[in-house]
Amino acid sequence: MATESPSVEVVDAGTVLRLVGADGSRVSAHALWLRDRCTCAMCRRSTTNERLLDQAVLDPTTVIREASLSGADMLTVAFSDGHEWTAGLVELTAQIGAGPVHPMDGRTRWPLDSFSSFQRSSLGSDDAVLDMLERFRADGAVVVTGVEPDEDGLRDTASLIGQMQMTNYGPTWSFEASVDPISEVESMHMLRVHTDLPYREQPAGVQLNLAISVSSEGGASTFVDGYSMAEVLREEDERAWELLTTVHFEYPYLRSSVRLSGGGPLVGRDGEGRYGIVRRAPDLVGSPRVAAEDTEALYAAVRRWGELVDDPAHQIHVALRPGELVIFDNHRLLHGRTAFDLQPGECRHLIGCYLEMDELRNTTALLRRVVQDGRR
Ligand SMILES: [Fe+2]
Repeated sequence: MATESPSVEVVDAGTVLRLVGADGSRVSAHALWLRDRCTCAMCRRSTTNERLLDQAVLDPTTVIREASLSGADMLTVAFSDGHEWTAGLVELTAQIGAGPVHPMDGRTRWPLDSFSSFQRSSLGSDDAVLDMLERFRADGAVVVTGVEPDEDGLRDTASLIGQMQMTNYGPTWSFEASVDPISEVESMHMLRVHTDLPYREQPAGVQLNLAISVSSEGGASTFVDGYSMAEVLREEDERAWELLTTVHFEYPYLRSSVRLSGGGPLVGRDGEGRYGIVRRAPDLVGSPRVAAEDTEALYAAVRRWGELVDDPAHQIHVALRPGELVIFDNHRLLHGRTAFDLQPGECRHLIGCYLEMDELRNTTALLRRVVQDGRR
């Protein structure tokens, strides 16, 4: 039931604060949790937000002496150790009352018709780059057109996001289709949807692929959203979803100069329950660490997961032209390619690079601060 104005009370011998919002919402917070958040000059350095209060030595007997509301939206709490903390009520209430995080955490549930496309020449302002990065976060990928079809063009677009990541392919990679391919990626065959670098403990989160030259027929990039497919599986069979998101698989990658064998669940979740790193590499995946009694159910889940991600009805095809680049989330989307056939004189050449997801998160947060809060 809605109330006229927010109210606050201290209960349970000063250990619990109860807040009632103007909309009638009720939340409670413990005195220790509130004391830990104190931002007074003795507890936090205001310039960097560094802690001066050691969380590990909080006095367990701390209680709230007094709590009051002032102004339109401020809460002041006085603690038994003499500290006093003032905080914005709306933000605090939202933090205390935040329920469990949904696995999609605000990402768009596919199906999606196509990725948003941005002209490189239009990405000259903070708002435009932020808009592109927000689209990336929602959909899992964006296309950038009008990029110089060479390594400088790739580096220039990557620099909008952050520092490129060095991997076992070097700072950038380059694949040219060959009539005498060494590996599948250099062949003209269809490539099943997969994620890159699953054999690393922390695979790169952001991948850029730039077309230098393409075949006249076939060779489109294929994408499917691992998170949305996990949601389909969750709705179909909760037990299968649990196994898919918890059972660890190893990905041994053993080459003459590389010996890596990182791994994780096929669809990882982070500590708060949101989807994290999806790993798929049908040619590399090793054995799961699974109890005998769960094995049949796990292999059934793996089979169903494969059907979902390989189903063309769930996939988006992007036929990149020279100078067109796709930026996609390698933790979330699986990518592949349709088969192609090179005509005489044609060549299919793609270059690309990786960035850590932290680079993109950092740039997005900095741009939000500038664009939405007007601060630099
Ligand atoms: Fe790949």
